[in-house]
Amino acid sequence: MRIVLLGAPGSGKGTQAALMVERLGIPHISTGALLRNAAKRGTELGLKAKSIIDRGELVPDEIMSDMIEERLGREDVADGFILDGYPRNLAQAKSLDTMLERLNQPTNEAIQIDVDLDQLVKRIARRAKKEGRSDDTEEVVRNRMRVYHEQTAPVIDYYADRGLLSHVLGDGEVEEVLERILSVLSVNQTST
Ligand code: AP5
Repeated sequence: MRIVLLGAPGSGKGTQAALMVERLGIPHISTGALLRNAAKRGTELGLKAKSIIDRGELVPDEIMSDMIEERLGREDVADGFILDGYPRNLAQAKSLDTMLERLNQPTNEAIQIDVDLDQLVKRIARRAKKEGRSDDTEEVVRNRMRVYHEQTAPVIDYYADRGLLSHVLGDGEVEEVLERILSVLSVNQTST
């Protein structure tokens, strides 16, 4: 199963993807995590990305497309994957489709996790205290939300137009949200 997870910053994409890995047995690919790891390792790409991430802007499409192409070329995605953080604008959505068509492995499902703004702000503020992620400051979060609404939200319609989109309510306990996602995917919720 090839799944794209969509949702605003703090909506729970990373949290849900990590749980879905255990239930679906396919890898979680988070472009945010790939970029943060590259920054931690101090690679040229990582350092360039860090200054962009710390402003809450999007890393250029060519860099992201190379990164995703490399990742989707690995063996562990043979049975599918859960994409979290990509695509993030229409150009990336089209580029992903082209890439997957070439591999004869089109996206099966796009899931939009819906959470209201108050809740998102609370979650990110909590994480900021706990983890101190450099892009979780108030000013940067405001910019991430703006970028999300301007550039990423149109991707929701992109998948809706292709008949691939489902909305899932992201409020409540993480396990509840997971069950909603598995139900949309028609995965047996009692399976391990
Ligand atoms: P990325 O890492 O993708 O960040 P994001 O989309 O802003 O998402 P977050 O990680 O903030 O939230 P999430 O939805 O994963 O929620 P989470 O599970 O963490 O990207 C970071 C940056 O990298 C971007 O701004 C950009 O600069 C760059 N980038 C990445 N991809 C790119 C791309 N494709 N193109 C260009 N640039 C790119 O949950 C949030 C918090 O809430 C956690 O503390 C969690 O414990 C908590 N939580 C989760 N679920 C619940 C729940 N049900 N109840 C209560 N708390 C919950």
